[in-house]
Amino acid sequence: MKYREIVFLLILITGCGTNQEKNYRDASLPAEKRARLLLSEMTLEEKVGQMCQYTGTASLEDQPLDPNADEQVRYVLQLGEKARLIREGKIGSFLKVPGYKEANYLQQLAEESRLKIPLLIATDAIHGHGMYVPPATIFPTPIGMAASFDEDVARTVAEYTAREMRATGYHWTFSPNVEIVRDARWGRFGETFGEDPLLVSRMGRAMIRGYQGENFSEPDHVIACAKHFVAGGIAFNGLNGAPAEVSRRTLSDVFFPPFQEAIAAGVYTIMPAHNDLNGIPCHAHREYLTGMIRDQWGFDGFFISDWMDIERLHEVHYIVKDHKEAAQVAVNAGLDMHMHGPDFFENVVALVREGKIPEERIDEAVLKILTAKFQVGLFEDHYVDSVKASQVVLCREHIDYALEAACKSIVLLKNEDKLLPVKNDPASLFLTGPLADHQGILGDWSRLLPEEYLVSIREGIAGSLKPSTKLDYMPCGEIEQISAQFIAEAVLRAGRTKMAILVLGENPIRFSPYKTIGENLDRHSLDLSGLQTDLARAVINTGVPTLIILVNGGPIASEWLYEHATAVIEAWEPGMMGGQAVADVIFGKYNPGGRLPVTIPRSIAHIQSFYNYKPSSFHRGKFKGVSISPLYEFGYGLSYTEFSYDNLEVPDNVPIDADIPVSFTIRNSGELAGDEVVLLFIRDKISRITTPVRKLVDFQRIHLDKGEAETLQFIIPNEALSFFNENMEKEVESGEFELIIGLDRLRKDFRLYTD
Ligand code: BGC
Repeated sequence: MKYREIVFLLILITGCGTNQEKNYRDASLPAEKRARLLLSEMTLEEKVGQMCQYTGTASLEDQPLDPNADEQVRYVLQLGEKARLIREGKIGSFLKVPGYKEANYLQQLAEESRLKIPLLIATDAIHGHGMYVPPATIFPTPIGMAASFDEDVARTVAEYTAREMRATGYHWTFSPNVEIVRDARWGRFGETFGEDPLLVSRMGRAMIRGYQGENFSEPDHVIACAKHFVAGGIAFNGLNGAPAEVSRRTLSDVFFPPFQEAIAAGVYTIMPAHNDLNGIPCHAHREYLTGMIRDQWGFDGFFISDWMDIERLHEVHYIVKDHKEAAQVAVNAGLDMHMHGPDFFENVVALVREGKIPEERIDEAVLKILTAKFQVGLFEDHYVDSVKASQVVLCREHIDYALEAACKSIVLLKNEDKLLPVKNDPASLFLTGPLADHQGILGDWSRLLPEEYLVSIREGIAGSLKPSTKLDYMPCGEIEQISAQFIAEAVLRAGRTKMAILVLGENPIRFSPYKTIGENLDRHSLDLSGLQTDLARAVINTGVPTLIILVNGGPIASEWLYEHATAVIEAWEPGMMGGQAVADVIFGKYNPGGRLPVTIPRSIAHIQSFYNYKPSSFHRGKFKGVSISPLYEFGYGLSYTEFSYDNLEVPDNVPIDADIPVSFTIRNSGELAGDEVVLLFIRDKISRITTPVRKLVDFQRIHLDKGEAETLQFIIPNEALSFFNENMEKEVESGEFELIIGLDRLRKDFRLYTD
């Protein structure tokens, strides 16, 4: 070989000189640069292929496959033609992939395509890698994380979930759900962080940081997705996917902030909601998706549609005549990736050729998707190392944290006669209830676990008793299997013991025929379903002190129960270690410190119930014979110890544009160490536009030993005192405000002044 030929060859191999810039495989280049280089080599079909997501074999719920049976999985994928489409570069992403072997196989197929672009593999890992087979660590559902009022819980759960996802071949989670819920009938309550914009924003932000790390480029991090934009938690009749009619002011005040915070935290994907918002389906909302979220709020990632919601623009909303027009409207509105399946590809390619979707719109979408793939490191490493997977998934550290998070999420609602903590075990204990030995503690978006991976509430209690205590456990079956005969026997057996524990609630298990709450299963009553209240009434009426443990995603509005039970523990859906956490609270190993992230309505007639209502809400209307107030307020929760508040300092007068310094002292004046959730609310006493009676402006969970005191300092940002004025601009008005600490622990007025 001649000298010049050798030099040329070297340049090609090492990527030196002019070729260096052109090589998208060069991992030293920034992700977006690599994405642009790759994009320039792609045909229109290859580009649109990246916008298409398909389902793996986990979508075949009626014929579940063993994901480790390679041949079976391959056969199904070939059968559905998905293998061919991947090889042709017509699929960019997958969801519902149950295990790492399938993930590896899909990536292998992608390597057979012309450009060998790896696939983004997505899953709904919202409180642990719950849809993965074999099992992964399952943490409390988001409503429980919110009840902890501890951002570290949300961040750590997300971080550990991301670790388990990456070790098993997944790169993208459809979480966090940062929707505000104002209608407790909505079956998806447990997937959310509740009713308050600040709490939801902070929990969402913490999860995004936990999932994505700095920018999801480290090997243990994944891409997050803020969903669903927007207002599904206040839809018609509380039904999933039904239309929402919400004023622009309420959207801006209440429903938008968690998404704005998610974008500020760097969330890379956003999923629009199923619903129609004020007449425009969210998947077609160009003004919001592109005009507001991308252009005004600076969203830098990509939009993924929700499950078949582009098709529903035609099939359900009737705003377009067919699927092709649906694709045109959605992509032009700003949608970047389609979940899921065929037709979208052909339609979009044709629409571009017909000039109905500009090719620049496609380039914009694909650039974001490819950037994500480079950023997450897919081109360098997309196969699962099975040894690493087995070391990471369900490792000790994660399981221990599942217990800690569950403990922190528990809220003690009632504790008459100091029934709890149970110090000297009663000589005999009666235990029953449909959730006592049930996987419902796992919450939605989790598969069932092999029994040995989970501590049920029965197991937690049984394992914590002294040998001298006789436990009479009466298996109950599913909620709807409770009969009058069962109740009669429970009464007899409870009557022979010193204390009764009933574990009641709702069944959120995704694929269970006995499910009573969850996605696409909304509630027509907020009381316990089936004969559970009858069971509770009968047992409580025996006179035996009765502890009720509630396992539920959405609040339980059972007035009789809260009034007559001796003690009530709200456990939410506490995850795989939930039974241990509940037992630790019952027997005093853990002092509960969680607080309600939702208002518990008195009945279904009390919808909507939330703490930040407008001042005139209750000034005239009444229900005959029934109090208008909720059963429990947002922020409520008891402890086994007492906390006293003192020394509130806030300036009497503050310049109109200044932040507000606040300090006060909290003392643990009880007998045990414990956690206190400190809440700071503001009331604007006179405002030109009506403002809520209270608005949460900050919170913090602290731990104090017995007798310990701490002086806390907060700075309330000036913006927290603003409202949206007549022109929908944020404005801070001068005048009187009130600062309220905790649920009315301390109050003080201050004044904002102009010169
Ligand atoms: C849900 C989404 C979820 C998607 C994929 C949809 O039905 O609304 O929240 O991410 O399914 O599983």
